[in-house]
Amino acid sequence: MENMASPPPPICPMASKNNAHILVGVTGSVAALKLPLLVAELLKIPGLEVLVVTTKNAKHFYKPEEIPVRIYTDSDEWQLWKKRTDPVLHIDLRRWADLMLVAPLDANTLAKIANGICDNLLTCVVRAWDVSKPLLFCPAMNTLMWEHPITARQVGQLKEFGYVEIPCIVKKLVCGDEGRGAMADISTIVEKTESVLLERGLLKPT
Ligand SMILES: Cc1cc2nc3c(=O)[nH]c(=O)nc-3n(C[C@H](O)[C@H](O)[C@H](O)COP(=O)(O)O)c2cc1C
Repeated sequence: MENMASPPPPICPMASKNNAHILVGVTGSVAALKLPLLVAELLKIPGLEVLVVTTKNAKHFYKPEEIPVRIYTDSDEWQLWKKRTDPVLHIDLRRWADLMLVAPLDANTLAKIANGICDNLLTCVVRAWDVSKPLLFCPAMNTLMWEHPITARQVGQLKEFGYVEIPCIVKKLVCGDEGRGAMADISTIVEKTESVLLERGLLKPT
């Protein structure tokens, strides 16, 4: 009998010449609830292809069936790589992407990226990132986490790498606290992404 249990290998697609390719990274902030909306809004931009890379903790916040594009997880990396000649997923995703958008970026992954830690698929893509390509990040965390002095240091570090901050906003947070720390509105994130793609000539003006 055929091995019906094994799913197809999660190979990174070939980058098509005419489209811009956005890799959305999603981390374990409650703002990951907005992933379906973010992907839907990005897909409305003509000439744009989207893939998602998720952390394990981010998966608590969305239903994969609500996301109409491929979502890559840590286990995909190792499922794909069995021997020397096999593709390395985090490198292939880096090659595929013209722009990476980490939305939301939680405090934990912010700290990892600022320090070069790469212990999952998302942080491996970022660690292997070609810094001449745009990387946008949308911090999202509790107000006191945001106000802790380590946060400004780490956000500053990411900006030094050339990454673009889409600043968080003041809001009543899901945890009940009120203040800065909420992820930027989806409309702001999508507009900024589109404007960076246009600036870099990665998207044709309509
Ligand atoms: C319900 C819930 C909501 C959370 N929301 C946030 C958040 O908005 N921002 C944040 O930095 N951490 C938040 N956390 C904590 C992160 O999930 C935690 O630091 C986790 O280790 C992040 O893992 P990741 O960065 O690998 O996704 C939340 C945790 C829970 C249980």
